[in-house]
Amino acid sequence: MDLEGGWDYENRMVEPGYTPEDQAVENPLRPRTFDQYIGQDKVKENLKIYIEAAKSRKESLDHVLLYGPPGLGKTTLAGIVAGELGVNLRITSGPAIEKPGDLAALLTNLSPGDVLFIDEVHRLPRTVEEILYPAMEDFALDIITGKGQMAASYHLPLPRFTLVGATTRAGQLSAPLRDRFGVVLRLELYSPPELGKIVMRSAGILNAQIEADAALEIASRSRGTPRIANRLLKRVRDFAEVMSGGVITLNTAKIALDRMEIDELGLDSSDRNMLKAIIENYNGGPVGLETLAAVIGEESVTIEDVNEPYLMQIGFLTRTPRGRCATAAAYLHLGYPVPGRLREDGQLTLDEG
Ligand code: ADE
Repeated sequence: MDLEGGWDYENRMVEPGYTPEDQAVENPLRPRTFDQYIGQDKVKENLKIYIEAAKSRKESLDHVLLYGPPGLGKTTLAGIVAGELGVNLRITSGPAIEKPGDLAALLTNLSPGDVLFIDEVHRLPRTVEEILYPAMEDFALDIITGKGQMAASYHLPLPRFTLVGATTRAGQLSAPLRDRFGVVLRLELYSPPELGKIVMRSAGILNAQIEADAALEIASRSRGTPRIANRLLKRVRDFAEVMSGGVITLNTAKIALDRMEIDELGLDSSDRNMLKAIIENYNGGPVGLETLAAVIGEESVTIEDVNEPYLMQIGFLTRTPRGRCATAAAYLHLGYPVPGRLREDGQLTLDEG
């Protein structure tokens, strides 16, 4: 793929962003209870305790901030929290709440104890954030209408509610907002065995026959992300139906994933192009994020949220104060000779053979 043309994120198989298919409210693959939810054990165990304690005190649960890369199950967790509390879940997102009135309409329609889920909470407009503070803290809205002599202020009590905020970037949250979350939980990328279990569970729900080694193959090419694993499963199932009578075997999974140009580590052509640009155009780095974004024709936020967490997790990319660098492991994976300086750094821990 040419570097000038940019990436086709819309059709990118390993893009963790929502697609209408994933977003369907009744997505049957979404776990509904903690028992069905695989992985994120620390987050789950802590949440269970906070929920049980809130229930036994007959109080609403304190506000919860979930952060981490996209596609790891933040919305799903909010749904489970609401389910365990036995309350309604309302779902919205930061950019969807444009004015204070939009937030007021949402909050005044909640029932006591309800969970309000705000995705991309770091993208709330400033004016909205300001009325959210007293709403979170005192369960009241302070609204000022009109100007000058016509100005009037209203103090509107609200039902107690639990805000579950989700963000891919906790660092971008304003300090006053962050401080108002009593529970702050970080979601981690999933391990291949955890994703393998998720793929087996999803295959069962989709009535697809899959062999355990095939599930693990899909899992290990899903960049630690359940949303990607479920999407790849559906596409591999298509191949299996046409190629091997419907059963997803290791062989069909490998063929299908190779045909989708997703390599053994889950990198797609856009990840490879990004690393190639660092290696070929910038001698391995450091290269600034904005420069890199311009060279490969992509938004820097997408690179930060989508490509980098996984590339850093597998040790292919480092962030330095002067920019992004490709590691020796990235050179090796893409078939480039490893420069002497990276060997001297002691970076080369992989078996080169
Ligand atoms: N589907 C998506 N995420 C999941 C998870 N964490 N556990 C089980 N199924 C899932």
